[in-house]
Amino acid sequence: MSTTARAHPNIALIKYWGKAPGEGNIPATPSLSITLDSLVTETHVTTGPSQDQLYFDDEPVADRKVLDWLEALRQRLDIPPLEIRTGNNFPTAAGLASSASGFAALIMAIDAHCGLHLDQATLSDLARRASGSAARSMLGGFVAIREPDWVAEPVLGPEAWPMKTVIAVTTTARKSVPSSQGMAISAATSPYYPAWVESTRADFTDALAAVNARDFQALADLAEFSCLKMHGLMIGSRPGLIYWNAATLSCLHAVRNLRQDGVDVFFTVDAGPQVKAVCPPEAERDVSAALASVPGVQEIVVTGLGPGARVVDP
Ligand code: DP6
Repeated sequence: MSTTARAHPNIALIKYWGKAPGEGNIPATPSLSITLDSLVTETHVTTGPSQDQLYFDDEPVADRKVLDWLEALRQRLDIPPLEIRTGNNFPTAAGLASSASGFAALIMAIDAHCGLHLDQATLSDLARRASGSAARSMLGGFVAIREPDWVAEPVLGPEAWPMKTVIAVTTTARKSVPSSQGMAISAATSPYYPAWVESTRADFTDALAAVNARDFQALADLAEFSCLKMHGLMIGSRPGLIYWNAATLSCLHAVRNLRQDGVDVFFTVDAGPQVKAVCPPEAERDVSAALASVPGVQEIVVTGLGPGARVVDP
């Protein structure tokens, strides 16, 4: 008998980049995200023979991050050896947050398969221990994570304020510096890090208010501020972390040009070169057309707002 769960990636509008000292993978700052719909991770869990076995797209993988996290879970929960089969319908590790949907789907599948009956807060706490952004994929729509509990908090459901995200894929290659490592470099070396941590708290509070008021312009302004500030922090690290390519920058200009022409849209970019343009549904065609015509853009993927992680029939 296998148990199947699905989860979607999320993108942060107010970014998380840096961890608090100590246990539990606690972020240094609150963050606010949207969960996407058409990109999906599907994970099947069965009870394995003697030790954990992981398969990605039916290929065996020895992913230390997953195996160590499973070992840590077993310190507090009764979990047998597992066979885990997982796959995404989108490029892995290219800045499309596959670890977020991956761990969110996995904890849901494990909870159901092992009959753990953990509550939503505990599930999102366990997902966060694997990957900070994974906690946010536990829920749909607009999601926050903040002190004191650092678990996913619903802000607006996926239907409450419809939004499209147009993703301009500028490469499908794996990114160079993984997030955890990049965050450690920024915290240790960037002179901007203290200012980033300090100022992100205010951005989060203001963005939460903008979402609750459905104020697109205010949210657009704060999301681009948080994104560019995070990349300023990354670039100001030593060695500088440059996640963009030439097409990334061209897309940012294209989004700014659209906005000057009166189209409601803003951009965000994570630890990879893809550009995500967020807009109301009525602007999606103009945004997709503009980004598709940027030299270097290989593919356009359009998503809406999606639900949180859940168990499904295989
Ligand atoms: C740039 O959640 O991947 O996407 O907790 O170390 O696994 P770990 O980091 P991760 O970092 C996400 C960074 C980001 C911004 C964000 O999603 O908030």
